[in-house]
Amino acid sequence: MAVILDGKATALRIQNDIRKQSDKFELAGVHRPHLAAVLVGEHAPSVVYVNNKIKTCERAGFHSTLIRLRKEILQDELLEEISKLNERSDIDGYIVQLPLPEHIDENAITMAIDPGKDVDGFHPVNLGKMLLGHDTFLPATPMGIMELLKTYQIDISGKHCVVIGRSNIVGTPMSILLSRKNDPGNATVTLTHSRTKNMAEITRQADLIVVAIGKANFLTADMVKTGAIVIDVGTNRVEDPGKKTGYRLTGDADFEQLIDKVSHITPVPGGVGPMTITGLLINTLKASHRRFK
Ligand SMILES: NC(=O)c1ccc[n+]([C@@H]2O[C@H](COP(=O)([O-])OP(=O)(O)OC[C@H]3O[C@@H](n4cnc5c(N)ncnc54)[C@H](OP(=O)(O)O)[C@@H]3O)[C@@H](O)[C@H]2O)c1
Repeated sequence: MAVILDGKATALRIQNDIRKQSDKFELAGVHRPHLAAVLVGEHAPSVVYVNNKIKTCERAGFHSTLIRLRKEILQDELLEEISKLNERSDIDGYIVQLPLPEHIDENAITMAIDPGKDVDGFHPVNLGKMLLGHDTFLPATPMGIMELLKTYQIDISGKHCVVIGRSNIVGTPMSILLSRKNDPGNATVTLTHSRTKNMAEITRQADLIVVAIGKANFLTADMVKTGAIVIDVGTNRVEDPGKKTGYRLTGDADFEQLIDKVSHITPVPGGVGPMTITGLLINTLKASHRRFK
């Protein structure tokens, strides 16, 4: 039976530490870390994610501001909002929740965010710094996963890690952090995607697999070797008439099949999700420390 990597408990522990640091701001007579979130439209999962982020901020003793904008907003109007957030000295960092409506170019929006306030770590300046190993805002999900590996003292040095999915926010930065000359890090990494041939042959060689593709139960027991570690980023809504909401969340890995074969696995929910929000808090605290200093 595998060890379940408890993202929820780990996140709460880190968030309690962050709360203590946030309290120090007040004691020093400066305002607490302040995160703003921009939400465009009513995309249901985004509303849930943003509300969770705001709630977690409050628990960590941060100020938070939610800016809700109508889905018809023009790109120039959104850029105007971004420019205001860049100027506001009371806001340490902010995120623009993705996805944005189709008529808006996400790249143009990301590029407009002040890299010093880009607590999602998506701006090319911050991604470039990550690539070079400089101190910066790391993308929240891969950072949260690295924190989870640290907490459970999982040594990946010299191990073969296979990342499935190459998005700019999860798979690609994950592959970089795992392979970086750092601790945790120093892994040998294979980055796979939808054009990868012989996927199962590759994943069966992995000591650790990070799966982030958005396909429920994609990673099955025959695709992993005994004793491997599985980090499941996927968050898929599958119909479930037994639930009040009509759906339940499930990962990209077949948890039921894998639990008896792997050595460690993250559950969905309660694994990577809470660690992602924690990553965002870590970045916001970092952004606010500059002001504190
Ligand atoms: N728990 C969290 O905090 C958290 C955070 C972020 C995302 N997520 C979840 O993680 C999942 C992935 O998100 P994302 O934003 O990274 O996704 P994304 O931007 O949609 O990218 C999906 C990636 O998966 C690859 N892919 C799709 N089907 C595949 C297949 N059959 N075999 C191999 N690769 C395949 C795609 O390959 P190509 O590049 O070739 O198209 C792409 O690189 C989603 O379920 C999302 O909701 C969870």
